[in-house]
Amino acid sequence: MLAGKKIILGVCGSIAAYKSALLVRGLLRAGAEVRVLMTPSAADFLSPLTLATLSKNPVVSSVHTREGWNNHVELGLWADAYVIAPVTATTLAKLASGLCDTVLVAVYLSARCPVFFAPAMDVDMWQHPATRANVEKLQSYGNHLIDVESGELASGLSGPGRLAEPEHIVALLDAFFAAPEADLAGRRILITAGPTYEDLDPVRYLGNRSTGRMGIALAEAAAARGAEVELVLGPTHLQTTAAGVTTTNVRSALEMHAAALARWPACTDAILSAAVADYRPATLSGEKIKKSDGDLQLRLVRTPDIAADLGSSKRPEQTLVGFALETENGVENARGKLDRKQLDFIVLNSPLDPGAGFGHETNQIQLIDRNKVTAFELKSKRAVADDILDRLVRDKPTP
Ligand code: C5P
Repeated sequence: MLAGKKIILGVCGSIAAYKSALLVRGLLRAGAEVRVLMTPSAADFLSPLTLATLSKNPVVSSVHTREGWNNHVELGLWADAYVIAPVTATTLAKLASGLCDTVLVAVYLSARCPVFFAPAMDVDMWQHPATRANVEKLQSYGNHLIDVESGELASGLSGPGRLAEPEHIVALLDAFFAAPEADLAGRRILITAGPTYEDLDPVRYLGNRSTGRMGIALAEAAAARGAEVELVLGPTHLQTTAAGVTTTNVRSALEMHAAALARWPACTDAILSAAVADYRPATLSGEKIKKSDGDLQLRLVRTPDIAADLGSSKRPEQTLVGFALETENGVENARGKLDRKQLDFIVLNSPLDPGAGFGHETNQIQLIDRNKVTAFELKSKRAVADDILDRLVRDKPTP
C-alpha cells in the first residue's frame, strides 16, 4: 500500500535516531518516496549524509541554505504522510504549541497530510504529565501517535519510552494506506458522540466522562468507507478534520436532540454513541448559585430520549444503532433497549472491562440484536468502528 506514496520523515536529536536509517530503508523497500527533515541536534546523532544517501534525496535541516530558502510549504503539500520519528520531548512541546524554530516544525504547521509521531525518550520523561499533555494535544489536532515500545532504554532504565521498531512503523503506515472498500458510498450517517453538559448556573454543569473518542472513530471510519457523516458532537477537546465529516457542536441533551432530529430524515443510518444526560436541572439559574450553611437540593427533570425519538420516526429502510454502557446484566438490559428504542442492534460495552469504555484508545464490545450476541476482542477504537460498520453493511447492504 505504500507503493508510490510520498513520505516526509522528520528526525529529531535522540539516541533512537539511528533507527531512522532503517526506517528510510524499510519505506523505500515498500515502494515509498522519502524526503528527510532533521532538526539541528539530530545531526549530532546521525549524519545527514547517511539519510541523504539512503533516501536518495537531499536532507533538509534548515529553512535557509547557502543557496537560498527551502520552501517548507511546498514540502508540506507534497507529502501523502508526514512521519516524525523519533520525536523528542522538546520537539513534542514545540509541535503542540506551534513554536516554529526548526524546519521540521515549519513543515508540520503547513502540512495538510496525515501526521504520525513516534516518540522516544526516557521512561520518566515519557510519563511526565507535561509530555502526556503534549501527546494528547497533538492527538486532539488529529495527529496519529505511534506508541512507544517498552524495554531497555539508553539511560539504563527499563520501561516504556523506546521508539517503535522501524518495521512496526512501516506496517502501521501500510495499514493506514490500505484503502478501505467504499462500501458505504451513497449513505448519509448520523453519529452522536461525546457527553452532554447540563448547565446549573453560569459556571456549573452536570456532565460525564465521555470523550467522544469512539464516536469520532466511527465518523472517520464511515467517511473513509465513502459515507457522508453528520457528526453531532457534545462538549469535548477532541475533534476531527476528516473529509466527509460535517460536525455540529452541541452542549446539552436538548441541543443534541434538536440537532439529531433535524438531520435524521435525510440520513440512511444513525449510530448513537453519545453519553446523553438522563436528567437536567429543572431550572437554570441566571446567577451563580450562592452557598449557604445548609444542604442544597437540586430538582432534576428527564431529558428527551434521542434514540427513542429517532426510533419512533424511523422509516423501514433506515438503520438505527444504539450503544449501551452497562455494569450488570448487560445483555438482558441491552435487549430491553432494542425494543424500547426500536434499535436494529446495540453495541454493548462495559466500563468494568479493562481497556474498554470512556477515554481509552481501545474498546471491547458485544453486538446484540434480537437473535444473537456477537463478542469481539479488545481492539483499537478505529478497528471497533469498522466491526460496527461491517455489521451495518451486512444487515442492510448499500444499494
Ligand atoms: O437508556 P440508555 O441511556 O442506556 O441508552 C443508551 C443509548 O441511547 C445510547 O445509544 C445513547 O446514545 C442513547 N440515548 C439517547 N438519548 C438519551 C439517552 C440515551 O439517544 N437521552
